[in-house]
Amino acid sequence: MDFRFTEEQLMIQDVARRIAQEKIAPSAEHHDRTGDFPLENMKTLGENGLMGIEVPAEYGGAGMDPISYVLAMVEVAAADAAHSTIMSVNNSLFCNGILKFGTEEQKQTYVRAIAEGREIGAFALTEPQSGSDATSMRCKAVKQDDGSFVVNGKKSWITSGPVAKYIVLFAMTDPDQGARGITAFMVDTDREGFHRGKTEPKLGIRASATCEIEFTDYVVKPEEVLGKQGEGFKIAMTVLDAGRIGIASQAIGIARAAYEATLEYVKERQAFGQPIGAFQMTQAKIADMKCKLDAAMLLTLRAAWQKGEFDKGGARFSNEAAIAKLTASEAAMWITHQALQIHGGMGYSKEMPIERYFRDAKITEIYEGTSEIQRMVIARNETGLR
Ligand code: CAA
Ligand code: FAD
Repeated sequence: MDFRFTEEQLMIQDVARRIAQEKIAPSAEHHDRTGDFPLENMKTLGENGLMGIEVPAEYGGAGMDPISYVLAMVEVAAADAAHSTIMSVNNSLFCNGILKFGTEEQKQTYVRAIAEGREIGAFALTEPQSGSDATSMRCKAVKQDDGSFVVNGKKSWITSGPVAKYIVLFAMTDPDQGARGITAFMVDTDREGFHRGKTEPKLGIRASATCEIEFTDYVVKPEEVLGKQGEGFKIAMTVLDAGRIGIASQAIGIARAAYEATLEYVKERQAFGQPIGAFQMTQAKIADMKCKLDAAMLLTLRAAWQKGEFDKGGARFSNEAAIAKLTASEAAMWITHQALQIHGGMGYSKEMPIERYFRDAKITEIYEGTSEIQRMVIARNETGLR
């Protein structure tokens, strides 16, 4: 086992860090306050290969490995979590699924546009009545004689829904078959029958635009089916395994930013005639923050390594991805909470980014499977029971 990163991995980390520090960090407070979608920054990320990190060059991406993806996501999330949410949906939920299950034509059309940062992609699984229990979806796609499908129904909480050009959609094609009755489709949002709802106001990641979407007699052409009919839930779960590595990386980025700000603050802020970092109680918090941060990073790198093996034909990495996401998201929530406490009143103030880190961290315990769902995945894998 080698704990050193390769030159290529360090190079992409550097590129991500430079863009994150020069372009994203300076406008993070603005985007958080206004909720403005950061389209220009997203284009810059795309032009530098960061919207399709694992996408081969022939489809417009950077052709790097899953570890590079983790390193780049951490840098962007440390500057602004909302940017990293948009980045992760494009990389892991959109491009990854089409690369694995799509036709050559689908890869050239959809993956290229997103990987190059020309368009924004989205992933639509959740519905108003079905989030964790994803197979109980009601959005329906009915097959026609010519092989096309007519879609009717709603999807909720769709990240980048307000701006996406293309969406990977999951709909029920055979309700009697349960999970095996779900099919994945490619949606072009400029076509008739597609509608967007209002952008949701949110606690954190405020510049990542999220909305409900609705389909009324939307027609999917036969060549727009992703994978085979009935294979949709397997596609969603496979893609989410990769997505959870992205959210773990996002959580680590937020936590690292809060930790680094805290390390500075405890040396500067004085109380009772000494830096607050000299108090034993603060020192214990710093030590625990550091341990949780490093544990989260190592588990996430392990999951990313395992994904690389899976891409080469190896075993599934569902368990490793769930362990990484659960550990990293709970670490981020704990670390940002401690960071806020250590900053005292300044932690509660909008004068500093600490309260933003705290608000942004919370979502990592909810989307791409809540912490309870990660525990369910891990325990099912460990015990074989359900
Ligand atoms: N890879 C491949 N196949 C998988 C799989 C995986 N990781 N997990 C399950 N499957 C397959 C099973 O093998 C099974 O197939 P067969 O019928 O052929 O045996 C089928 O899928 C059904 O599996 P389960 O019986 O385990 O399904 P379940 O109904 O018990 O649900 C679950 C399992 C883990 C709870 C799943 O529903 C889940 O992950 N729920 C959370 C949903 C979620 O994460 N949503 C995220 C939306 S996207 C998002 O949030 C984006 C964002 O924020 C930015
Ligand atoms: P529910 O499933 O109703 O869960 C409510 C509570 O019950 C949770 O605490 C949950 O853990 C618990 N619970 C449920 N089942 C169990 C169980 N079996 N055992 C124990 N506890 C359980 N979805 C998309 O498809 N695409 C997106 O791009 C997307 N982006 C999102 C962006 C944001 C900002 C948000 C908030 C959500 C997004 N989602 C997206 C949806 C997200 O994946 C769901 O919110 C999440 O999966 C939880 O589903 P739910 O909100 O319906 O909660």
